[in-house]
Amino acid sequence: MASHHRDYHEELILILDFGSQYTQLIARKVRELGVYCEIYPYNLDLDTIRSMKPRGIILSGGPASINEKNAPICDRAIFELGVPVLGVCYGLQLLAKSFGGKVEKAPKREFGKAHLYIEKADRFLDGVKDGDIVWMSHSDKVLNLPAGFVALARSDNSSYAAVRNTQGTVYGVQFHPEVHHTPKGKRILKNFLYKICRLKGLFSPQSFVELATEKIRREAGDEKVICALSGGVDSSVVAALIHRAIGDNLRCVFVNNGVLRKNEAEEVIAAYRDILHLNLKYVDAGEAFLKALKGVKDPERKRKIIGRLFIRIFEEEARANGSVRYLAQGTLYPDVIESVSFKGPSATIKSHHNVGGLPKRMKMTLIEPLRELFKDEVRVVGRELGVPEYLVGRQPFPGPGLAVRIIGEVTEERVRILQEADSIVRQEIEHNPAFKHIWQSFGILIPVKTVGVMGDERTYANVIAVRVVESEDAMTADWARLPYPTLDTVARRIINEVAGVNRVVYDISSKPPSTIEWE
Ligand code: XMP
Repeated sequence: MASHHRDYHEELILILDFGSQYTQLIARKVRELGVYCEIYPYNLDLDTIRSMKPRGIILSGGPASINEKNAPICDRAIFELGVPVLGVCYGLQLLAKSFGGKVEKAPKREFGKAHLYIEKADRFLDGVKDGDIVWMSHSDKVLNLPAGFVALARSDNSSYAAVRNTQGTVYGVQFHPEVHHTPKGKRILKNFLYKICRLKGLFSPQSFVELATEKIRREAGDEKVICALSGGVDSSVVAALIHRAIGDNLRCVFVNNGVLRKNEAEEVIAAYRDILHLNLKYVDAGEAFLKALKGVKDPERKRKIIGRLFIRIFEEEARANGSVRYLAQGTLYPDVIESVSFKGPSATIKSHHNVGGLPKRMKMTLIEPLRELFKDEVRVVGRELGVPEYLVGRQPFPGPGLAVRIIGEVTEERVRILQEADSIVRQEIEHNPAFKHIWQSFGILIPVKTVGVMGDERTYANVIAVRVVESEDAMTADWARLPYPTLDTVARRIINEVAGVNRVVYDISSKPPSTIEWE
C-alpha cells in the first residue's frame, strides 16, 4: 500500500481566515507553490490546531479593526506551537497587538500600489529588491513594534511593511503578497514556505491523483460506485479519477433532460465512452422532461421539476445496478469552506446544486474525491487524467439547462430555436481562442414577437438575447465589451440561419444587480 509519493498532508499549512476577500487566493498561491493548505475560521480551537500538526500558520487579512471591541482574534497560544506564523495585513496587526505593540488608525488609508524599502536583509525577503511594488489595502497600521520584533521593510506610508520576531518564527506583512499586483508576492510566500517553514513542496496534481486513487480503492473496496455525469468539469473529473481507481465498478449515468445545448449529449457521451472508457448508461429522457415542464412558466418551479425528475430517473438507474453502496459527487473545496457545518448556522447553502437531494434519499455513502481542490486544480487534475480539453475547459452550464434560458414556457419548438441560436454563440465566442477569458457566453430566447423585414416579406418572430460575461467566481460578473465585428457576426448569423428569430439584442447588465442567467 505504501506509495512512492510522500503524503502532502504531512506539510499542512493552516490558513486562519479573518474574513478577507483574498483568503482563498492565499490558499491557491500556497498550493501553486507545491504546499498543501487548508482554510479554517479564525477561531479554530487550539486542540484542533495541534492535532492537525500544521507546519506553518498564515493569518489572513480581514475587514475588522484590531482595536474594535469585538475584533476577531485567534488563540494567542498559536505563537507558542513551535511552528512559523505569517500574518498578512490584519494578521500583522493582530500579531503586533498580541505581542504588546501599538496599532492605530492611519491618518490616510493606504490603498493600491506602494514601494517596499528594505531595512534589514532577511531570507524572508530573498529575491525582493529595494523599491519593488507591493499592493496595500488597509486603514489601520502598526505604530510601535512590540519588543522582540524588528522591521524588515517599510513602505511609503508604513514604517512596518514587513516585520519578524528576533527568533525568526513570527513574520508579518502589511501588504498582500497573494495578489498579483504584488509582483514579488509569490516569491515572498515561497520564502516563507521553503526557507522559514522548511518545507519540501510535496503537493502537485500528480501527487493528488496518486493519493486520491489509493484512498478511493481503500474506501470502495470491491463495491460499486455510482456517479451522475452532467458533462461539466467536476463530474467528468470525478468519474475519470474513480475510474482510474476501480475501473468498471464505477457506474456512470448520463441523463438527457431535453434541455441540453445542441449536440451536447452526443459530444459528451463520445468523450466519456471513447476517450475515458467509462462504464456509462445513457438515458434519453428528453420527452419526459418536456412533458413535465408543459405549461410551467415560473423559473423556480422549472428548476424543481427538473431536479425532482432527475432524481427519480437516477434512482431507477441506481437500482438497476443492484446494490450500490457509494455515490460519487464533484464537491469542491470552496463548497466545503462555504458549507454550513464549516461556518456555523448563519451561512446559507446554495440552492442549485444539481444532485443535492440524492445522498440522503438514497442512503448511500458519499465519495467526494475533489473535496480538497479548487476549480483550477480540478482542471489540472483532469488534464493529468486525460480528460479531453472539451470537457476540462468548459464554461459552467446550469443543471436546468436551456429551461432557464427560455423565458416562460418551455416547448420543443422553443428548445430547437434556442439550441440553434446558442450554437452560433458557441461557435463564435466559446470556441474562439480570442475569447478564452470569457466566463460564460450563451443565448436566451425571449418569446416576444417583434416585426422585421426579410427580402420583401414582413416577419413577426422571436427575440434572442446574447449574454456574455466575465467573472472570477460567478458571484459578481461584468458584461463583456466584445468587439463590434464579433457582435455583428453573431447577430447576422442568428437572424439568417435560425428560423423563428428576426431580432438579436446584447445584454449589457452586470451582476449585481442583474444575475448571469435570466431566470
Ligand atoms: P446567476 O444567474 O445566479 O448564476 O448569476 C450564477 C452561476 O450559477 C449558474 N446557475 C446554475 N447552475 N443550476 C446550476 O447548476 C441552476 O439552477 C443554476 N442557476 C444559475 C449560472 O450559470 C452561473 O454560472
